[in-house]
Amino acid sequence: MPSAKNSAGKRIFAEICSMAIENGAVNLGQGYPDFGPPEHVLEALSNVARSDNPLLHQYCRVFGHIPLVEALGTLYSRVYDRKVNPLTEILVPIGGYGGLVCAIESVVKPGDEVLIFEPFFDCYKEMVETVGGIPIFIPLHPPEPPDPLRQLDSDNWTFSEEYILSHIRPNTKAVLLNSPSNPLGKLFSKSELEIIRDVCIEFDLTCISDEVYEWIVFDERKHMKIAAMEGMWERTLTIGSAGKAFSATGWKLGWIIGPEDLMERCQKVFQRCYYRCPTPIQEAVARSLEIEIRNLDTSDSYFVTLSKDLQRKRDWVVKTLLEIGMKPVIPRAGYFLLVEISTFLKNRRPCHITDHEAEDLQFTKWAIKEKKFGAIPASLFFDSERQNIGQKYIRLCFAKKDSTLEAAIDILMNLGNHSTKHHPN
Ligand SMILES: Cc1ncc(COP(=O)(O)O)c(C=O)c1O
Repeated sequence: MPSAKNSAGKRIFAEICSMAIENGAVNLGQGYPDFGPPEHVLEALSNVARSDNPLLHQYCRVFGHIPLVEALGTLYSRVYDRKVNPLTEILVPIGGYGGLVCAIESVVKPGDEVLIFEPFFDCYKEMVETVGGIPIFIPLHPPEPPDPLRQLDSDNWTFSEEYILSHIRPNTKAVLLNSPSNPLGKLFSKSELEIIRDVCIEFDLTCISDEVYEWIVFDERKHMKIAAMEGMWERTLTIGSAGKAFSATGWKLGWIIGPEDLMERCQKVFQRCYYRCPTPIQEAVARSLEIEIRNLDTSDSYFVTLSKDLQRKRDWVVKTLLEIGMKPVIPRAGYFLLVEISTFLKNRRPCHITDHEAEDLQFTKWAIKEKKFGAIPASLFFDSERQNIGQKYIRLCFAKKDSTLEAAIDILMNLGNHSTKHHPN
C-alpha cells in the first residue's frame, strides 16, 4: 500500500491541519492545548508588560536572560541533584524546537549516523538530514506476536538491545532520545535508559535527550533524566520547553542543559541563527518558574495539577475509544496517544478504504470531511520501512478543554453506533 510518509510528509501534515480547519472539525489532531496557561503565568506576563522597568522590553543577555537562567539553574540543580551552572550549562533557545536545531547542528556532522527511536517526532529525520547526518531508526516494537492486551500499553512498545548494537558503526555519532515521547506517550523505564546509557558510554556517543514533556507524567510514574545517570552528564544535551511546561506553546521558549563544552558548540549555532530570545517572555517564564520551584511536588504545583488533569482526560478518551472498538495505546506521559484503527475499520467499515492511499491517511481525511473529527495519520511518525505499522494508527492529542473532548467523544460514539456492520470475516 502506498505510504502517507514520503518527501511530502510535511505537506500532508499541513494539508490535514488545514482540512480540519476548513471543515470546522473538532480537532484532536492539533498537537497543543486549546486551553490557556495557568493564572500565575498570565499574571507574570501581564506584570512584565506593565513593569516600570523599560529594560524588560530591550535586548537581554544573548544565551539567556539572567533571571531565567538563574531560575532554571535552581530548578534543575534540584532535579539533577548536582549544581547546574546557569551561565555555562544552560542555553535558552526558541522553544524546544530551537533547542533541537542547536543540539543537532552542533553535534552532527556530514556522514554521521544518529540513532532515533521510532515512532519519532517527525522533524527529527529532517533536522538530522539537513546537516548531512544519516538517521538510523530503532523501532519501538508493539509486542510480537501481536497480543491485544499488551499492545495497548506504551510501556510494552520497547526496543531490542541487539538491534541497537547491530546498527552501531564507526560513524555512529549520537542517540536522539524522546522521553516522554511524541506520538507514543512512552516514558522510558530505568532499565531501558540504562541500556541506552551503556551503549552511549561504550561507543562514545552523544545523547540528545528531548524531554519537552518531562512535567506531564501519569499513573504515579516519575520521569527519569538520562543525563542524571552515572557517566551521562558529560555526553548529554537535554532539551526542555516552557511552552509544554506551562501550556503556552505560542510563547516558543525552551532550554538546553548540558556540560560546558557541548554547550559552547550549541551557543555558536544559536548565536549565528537566533542571537537571543524575547526578553519579556523570558522574564515571565522566570517569574513563573520561581513560583513552581517553591511549590515543586506539592498539590499547588501547576506541573502536578496539569498532570492530574491530563491523566483524567486521557482516561476519559481511552475509555470511549475502547467502548467503540478502537484500540488506544495507553500513554504514560505527555499529551498524545496512538489509536489502532485497522481492526475497527475491518470490523465496522465506516468508510470505504481503497488501495490507492495509506489506510490511516484515508481514514483521517474521511473522518475530517464526513464526521468533522480531526486526527493525524500516524504513518507520518514512521520511516518508510515500517509504514505498515504506522498505517494502522492515528494520533490524537487529549490536551483539550473538556468541552472539546465532549464534542469529540460524541462524534466517536456516533461513529461506533452508525457503523455496526461487521466484516464477513
Ligand atoms: C517531542 C517534541 N519535541 C519538541 C517540540 C517542540 O517544542 P516547542 O514548542 O517548545 O518548540 C515538540 C512540539 O510539539 C515535541 O512534540
